[in-house]
Amino acid sequence: MSLRQIITVPDPLLRKISAPVERVDDELRALLDDMLETMYDAPGIGLAAIQIAVPRRVLVMDISRDDEEKDPFFLINPEIIRFSEEMSLHDEGCLSIPEHYAEIERPASVTVRYLDRNGKQQERDFDELLARVVQHEIDHLDGKQFIDYISKLKRDRIVRKLTKDRKRAESVAL
Ligand code: NI
Repeated sequence: MSLRQIITVPDPLLRKISAPVERVDDELRALLDDMLETMYDAPGIGLAAIQIAVPRRVLVMDISRDDEEKDPFFLINPEIIRFSEEMSLHDEGCLSIPEHYAEIERPASVTVRYLDRNGKQQERDFDELLARVVQHEIDHLDGKQFIDYISKLKRDRIVRKLTKDRKRAESVAL
């Protein structure tokens, strides 16, 4: 397993639509393991492959707390097949948009169809925090980010700030 670098806004790759996985094999499982390790190290509770610059439709998530046993989910080619009518409003952040948060409204629960890490098809209901994380990560597979749900004014401000931060980091690296 190895740590991968997480790309951040405004990297144009984050806008790319990821391609479906055609075969669940050891190479894919190695990618999933790298993603999980990278997510734990960040630390974060969800990560889509595109965030480590791999445009494939896979994501990992784990919302267990530090004092709990780890409880990772691996979702391949996930597809939301039911959204609840009930909505929920919650603060959201993203490893690719460091240090920025916004209140985002999303369906409170969803049903997702996906392949697990053995290539077996699963269908599962997610609610509360997992529902939020799985919707956020599936958005990444379609090139979307949580800042797409806020006003253009606020979004532009965040993107400008991150662009400036990156320029500063690059000049320090020289
Ligand atoms: Ni994210």
